[in-house]
Amino acid sequence: MSLLVTGAAGFIGSHFVLRHCSGQVLRHCERHPDDAIVVLDKLTYAADRSFLDSVMDRIVFVQGDIADTPLVSSLVQQHGIETMVNFAAETHVDRSIEDEHPFLQTNVLGVQSLIDVCKAHPTARLLHISTDEVYGDIDDDDPPRAVGDPLFPSSPYAASKAAAEMLIIAAMRTYGIKAAVTRCTNNYGPHQFSEKFIPTVIRCALKDEPVPVYAEGKNKRDWLYVTDHCDALEAVLTTPWAFWDDTIQSGHFFNISADDERQNIDVAKAVLKVLGKPESLIHFVPDRPGHDWRYALDSSSIRKLGWKPQVSFEEGLRRTVEWFVRRG
Ligand SMILES: NC(=O)c1ccc[n+]([C@@H]2O[C@H](COP(=O)([O-])OP(=O)(O)OC[C@H]3O[C@@H](n4cnc5c(N)ncnc54)[C@H](O)[C@@H]3O)[C@@H](O)[C@H]2O)c1
Repeated sequence: MSLLVTGAAGFIGSHFVLRHCSGQVLRHCERHPDDAIVVLDKLTYAADRSFLDSVMDRIVFVQGDIADTPLVSSLVQQHGIETMVNFAAETHVDRSIEDEHPFLQTNVLGVQSLIDVCKAHPTARLLHISTDEVYGDIDDDDPPRAVGDPLFPSSPYAASKAAAEMLIIAAMRTYGIKAAVTRCTNNYGPHQFSEKFIPTVIRCALKDEPVPVYAEGKNKRDWLYVTDHCDALEAVLTTPWAFWDDTIQSGHFFNISADDERQNIDVAKAVLKVLGKPESLIHFVPDRPGHDWRYALDSSSIRKLGWKPQVSFEEGLRRTVEWFVRRG
């Protein structure tokens, strides 16, 4: 299984490559030493190439843009790539509210470029990493969102991710490309860029500075430790029908969640507790425009593949805080 992993110098993609190479999931590199793992990353502000230092001798690292179709196509051809795993994206909601255009460029046109490569190389499959944010928010008494429910994105970021999904569905129908799409809830863990919620709480608390929390912190998110997300992706990768099923809705889409919803304020308090810092550091700030109230997913599709989360929130938070403290 030769892989092209895009965006793997970022948060989730770096964990995916490290786990894949270390064999924690499949012992893949040991069993298939000739298979290629090629990483393509533009190295934006959110990337840190050093996350991959320990596996640099086992991967091919290329700095470049997923929207550069000739480059992606040549990598697929040259390395006999069977699957492209696409983590590459602009990912910060607040930045998308300031300026949508980088999000359209990478999250929409970049994905179209990967679709074009699938069309040119029909043996290549695409595993596209999407997000629960494509569904938009739900009320407290709504059932969790299921695969097949309508998409109502609230932010330009979520809209760009939803647009990419639509292009992939259309390409599956029209050109018969082989693709699967995963929609995961909020991830946390080491390597996450400092602007995101949990790293912000840790960074501010370590300096005894006010910890900003939107509105009254009552919005709910379902948190998943990053390596559990990576294991779910491995489950999809090793399920051939996930990419090639007659019924698009039942085959190709997977919601991934731990079913562990928490209010943002409780997450902030939990981080402060691990750090031994007072809750008085919490400082409420005006709400984000269009801020989604609650996300919750029906994750039965991924659980049918035998996946379930392994890392509890308490353990994951302890590991995350330790990593950020060590990094300084
Ligand atoms: N972080 C979460 O909580 C979460 C939850 C669900 C889904 N996702 C999705 O998972 C994927 C990875 O998220 P993340 O949090 O690791 O992101 P991140 O921002 O930490 O990393 C993104 C990576 O993509 C690279 N990149 C950006 N534009 C590129 C381009 N045009 N070509 C090549 N590389 C490019 C960046 O350099 C960076 O290394 C994204 O698609 C995101 O939408 C994230």
